[in-house]
Amino acid sequence: MKKFLDMISEEMQAAFEAAGYGEEQAGAALGRVTVSNRPDLCEYQCNGAMAGAKKFKKAPVMIAGEVAEKLRDSRVFSQVEAVPPGFLNLSLSEEFLGDYVREMSRTDKFGLEMPEKPQMIVIDYGGANVAKPLHVGHLRSAVIGESIKRICRYAGHEVIGDAHLGDWGLQMGLVIVGIQERQPELAYFDDSYEGEYPAEPPFTISELEEIYPASSARSKEDPEYKARAMEATYKLQTGVRGYRALWRHMMNVSVTDLKKVYSSLNVEFDLWKGESDVRDLIPEMVQNMKDGGYAYISEGALVVDVKEETDTKEVPPCMILKSDGAALYNTSDLATILERMRLYHPDQIIYLTDKRQDLYFDQVFRCARKTGLVEPQTRLKWIGFGTVNGSDGKPFKTRQGGLMRLETLIRDTKEEMLRKIREGREMSEEEARAVADIVAVSALLYGDLSNQPSKDYIFDMDRFTSFEGDTGPYILYTIVRIKSILTKYAQQGGSLEGLEILAPTGQAQKQMMMQLAGFNAMMESACEETAPHRVCAFIYDLANAFNHFYHETQILSEKDEAQKKSLIALLILTKDVLEDCIHVLGFEAPEKM
Ligand code: ARG
Repeated sequence: MKKFLDMISEEMQAAFEAAGYGEEQAGAALGRVTVSNRPDLCEYQCNGAMAGAKKFKKAPVMIAGEVAEKLRDSRVFSQVEAVPPGFLNLSLSEEFLGDYVREMSRTDKFGLEMPEKPQMIVIDYGGANVAKPLHVGHLRSAVIGESIKRICRYAGHEVIGDAHLGDWGLQMGLVIVGIQERQPELAYFDDSYEGEYPAEPPFTISELEEIYPASSARSKEDPEYKARAMEATYKLQTGVRGYRALWRHMMNVSVTDLKKVYSSLNVEFDLWKGESDVRDLIPEMVQNMKDGGYAYISEGALVVDVKEETDTKEVPPCMILKSDGAALYNTSDLATILERMRLYHPDQIIYLTDKRQDLYFDQVFRCARKTGLVEPQTRLKWIGFGTVNGSDGKPFKTRQGGLMRLETLIRDTKEEMLRKIREGREMSEEEARAVADIVAVSALLYGDLSNQPSKDYIFDMDRFTSFEGDTGPYILYTIVRIKSILTKYAQQGGSLEGLEILAPTGQAQKQMMMQLAGFNAMMESACEETAPHRVCAFIYDLANAFNHFYHETQILSEKDEAQKKSLIALLILTKDVLEDCIHVLGFEAPEKM
């Protein structure tokens, strides 16, 4: 369906044309209509007469008056007022709005148009590292990435989400020597061992997670230990059997655990690939970079220059191989681009990381373009997100001052939600827990996604879990409220099928329908701008509009049968729109709460 604002702008533009202020004469279309920024005065407005005044050497209010005249019998606007100094204040025709919203309720995805040429998009998000627990810093990459994936899919694109695990660098070597310290007798460390390795891993996930921080700390103080870790990394990367076998155990144990945590946030990756998956592509990629004359040796290392004339800051060369020939973080990222181009041929690759990696991605993208890893039209997009802070405005920490584990954060949110759900509700303990788990996810996700990604935000448990205000639980509460009205209606013998939305009868209802009418435009821009916060802002406004309407309107006791059916149809549409929106944000509503 055509976007609502476009439709009413067309009507306005036609009036400008008819009054002699057309696009040709004015040099631009003056009829753009926007949602009013003074809702107390009008519903929509057009400032085109102001913009045209100079060109036509006429007082804007005169132009506005002439345009208004042409809209006297408009089927789109019920009232058009030219007000000084030259604004057009607009009220919408109820019939027209009713027609549009009825059409929405009958159209797939409420009138969101599918792209003519769907894009193939790869999203690289999550950023988990094997053998290291997820911490609060990983929340945003997972949650924002998942939502962008769902939004782009909903908008008709083909999207692949890849976890891109950190599974190949020095961290792996550190864990290996950490295990060796604890259990030197294991067959994995015996170079002469030729038998089968045990199927059972020699550690649990909690042991594994203890090993990395201890080993990493020690390597910082003990150069000999660090050298051993580097040696172990090298042995792993060159394919020493025992090390590979041990690494596979680390992968299995760790990925099983990661999947558990991610799925508790409804984050689902299509691919669980990692840095290790592209190791075999590196030699070939490096050779091409050398053959193409892009890579050269500088101070022993192999580098590609990526600075550009227009740079205002220093952009250092992209290092491809260290002087000992070892690959780096960027080497994996570049080889991964090569692999993705070969396997999926994406139109776009989107990355989500902490915003401090901006220079890094600048270098990687420039290098990929320069060396021809991607085609000129392939978009490489990096989204850098801000930090999750505590109430002191500093990065969120545990009470003890340590890094907050993501699992702990999720658990604490569920506990707090349970406490709030129990208050004043009659529910069995079991039911309360199940509901709290669902609502807690909305609190976490909405608390994050309602912020612009690049901004830092304060993790405010009390606010995020509140049933009032701009929160996930408030949205769910609204959906549940609608569901319960619909259930009652059905219990009273009403059918939820074949209902028809009519023109609005009151101002609150009209406001709500105008909000609904903006759905397709909102979703389209949320996709184009990779901006889940737009979806949040939209459903917050819609939930408010609904609650206001609900407050003013007797729905189930409405006497006029056709009216009542129309109200029910409108409720169904509102619920469906809200549910699709929360689905693309990554959460669902319970049946009751
Ligand atoms: N594993 C990395 C880290 O912990 C994040 C990976 C981000 N994605 C990427 N393609 N580099 O910092």
